[in-house]
Amino acid sequence: MATIALTGATGFIGRVLLKYLTDQGSRVKALYRPGSSSLPPKAIASVEWVAGNLEDADSLRTLVTNVDAIVHCAGAVRGATLEQFKKINVEGVERLLQAAVEQGVPRFLLISSLAAREPSLSAYALSKKLGEDTLLEYDDKISWDILRPPAVYGPGDREMEPLLKLIRRSIVPVVGSKDGRFSLLYVDDLAEAVICLLRPDRISARQCFELHDGHPNGYTWAQIAAIAAQLNGKPAHCFSLPRGLISIVGRINIAIASLSSYQPMLTPGKVREIFHPDWVSDNSAITRATNWQPKVLFPDGMRRLFY
Ligand SMILES: NC(=O)c1ccc[n+]([C@@H]2O[C@H](COP(=O)([O-])OP(=O)(O)OC[C@H]3O[C@@H](n4cnc5c(N)ncnc54)[C@H](OP(=O)(O)O)[C@@H]3O)[C@@H](O)[C@H]2O)c1
Repeated sequence: MATIALTGATGFIGRVLLKYLTDQGSRVKALYRPGSSSLPPKAIASVEWVAGNLEDADSLRTLVTNVDAIVHCAGAVRGATLEQFKKINVEGVERLLQAAVEQGVPRFLLISSLAAREPSLSAYALSKKLGEDTLLEYDDKISWDILRPPAVYGPGDREMEPLLKLIRRSIVPVVGSKDGRFSLLYVDDLAEAVICLLRPDRISARQCFELHDGHPNGYTWAQIAAIAAQLNGKPAHCFSLPRGLISIVGRINIAIASLSSYQPMLTPGKVREIFHPDWVSDNSAITRATNWQPKVLFPDGMRRLFY
């Protein structure tokens, strides 16, 4: 039975990864932050919870002792400054890698983001790219894979839920450029990709893999509206959120963050990400490498969540 060290197991994606890893028979050592606002971890027979933090090297050493692989899913997705993102998404990767090499862990799987493809857009995107670059520096010391998911949704997700609830009510706010295209991924498909990459008989490809839900060339907002109409049995109402208005909210958030400990999601950088016209990903490399196939197209994901 393989033992996997998992970070981010208290978050949206990590909780699903934890379930998939234990369901397919792995023992998991999972990191949790005792002081955080997340619910305290539940006791699960095959899970050993390790109290710690990506900023604390000792806890990371404990986490990765006697494991066969590391799945690094923890990350900062909210923040106001590059420094805040780098502290978690770059320095956290480096600290975990140092512990991994010290303890002789053979494999490292980094959950990065499609945003890393466009590091000039935002502090988040840049930090995810720099996190990947950090892993590449350890190429001669550890086997690795990188996953770059697009927007991920599913049960327990707080970021996309408000938007999906509106779509359920046949209201489609066009968030971003009208002709923009974007890929989506249901969280269970991401978890299955992780399981495929960790198969014991597989050798790490030392490759960066993009993923999507099986809908080639992504979605446009018009396609999302057509899906909403089909699911709800009535036409969907689309409306555009003006970039100027969203940018003002982003700037207000930055001002509030500079005066408090608030960690905003919507910042001027996030607005640039939202209005980037091409967030289409490509499944071909991961399918070639692992035979992974996504199962949940967006309409099926909506049905699972709301119908
Ligand atoms: N959601 C998406 O659409 C999406 C798309 C592409 C890539 N990703 C990537 O997927 C990963 C997980 O995202 P998510 O949506 O699941 O985010 P999330 O719900 O905010 O979860 C983040 C996780 O990271 C942990 N974490 C944050 N800072 C930490 C620190 N200093 N030390 C230890 N743990 C820390 C959090 O712990 P607490 O519970 O204690 O806060 C939580 O478990 C991130 O790396 C993100 O960049 C997400």
